[in-house]
Amino acid sequence: MSSRIIVALDFPDSEAALVFAGQLKPQDCRLKVGFELFVAAGPELVRTLVGRGFEVFLDLKFHDIPHTVAAACRAAARLGAWMMNVHALGGADMMRAARAALAAFEQPPLLLAVTILTSMDQQQLDAAGLGGHTPQERVLQLARLAQACGLDGVVCSAQEAGMLRAELGPGFLLVTPGIRPVASAAGDQARIMTPEAARAAGVSYPVIGRPVTQAVEPLAVLHELNRLFGRP
Ligand code: C5P
Repeated sequence: MSSRIIVALDFPDSEAALVFAGQLKPQDCRLKVGFELFVAAGPELVRTLVGRGFEVFLDLKFHDIPHTVAAACRAAARLGAWMMNVHALGGADMMRAARAALAAFEQPPLLLAVTILTSMDQQQLDAAGLGGHTPQERVLQLARLAQACGLDGVVCSAQEAGMLRAELGPGFLLVTPGIRPVASAAGDQARIMTPEAARAAGVSYPVIGRPVTQAVEPLAVLHELNRLFGRP
């Protein structure tokens, strides 16, 4: 029985990540490997996790010219990544090139777009020349572009999920950090949502890090998250 919870494996090195992952079972979660861990541990860690039966979201947010991004996506697919992502601001040609590169694989990994980083507020969008629209309008515009380019979904905040689900239809994946079981601390996440509310808002896969990785009993927290969010 599979799980919709993606655990953010935010550890500084391979050893710490593997010790932690050793407590988990592939049927209880998927795993997200981001910049810090990938730069420290390299592709071998991803191969090891895939070899242990985990589905791995390689969260490297590629953003470069189409040829380079397509090649990076191909390399990530060869590693056995289940899901990966690119920046929608890389443009339609870049997203289509990434999609085409993955389509050549027998079991193509899922491809997501990052739209506007949640750290970008109106002032920062204006300063970057992306003003004239609210962050939410820009998120929708870029998510629509990603969908038109054949991507499987977007990474979005819980607050954006309801709007994106309504606008983009039932089949588009929404992969969402900032979700917290009620009992755990918000940490530095400014706007949080419970698993039940996230599910109701149309989130496909919640990304949850510290509430699981720093728990005394990570498995117990995961079982509760699976119960609250529901399994596929
Ligand atoms: O520990 P926590 O549950 O906050 O981890 C959330 C994960 O999602 C981290 O890997 C973080 O980098 C990522 N993320 C996020 N907020 C975003 C985008 C990504 O928390 N807007």
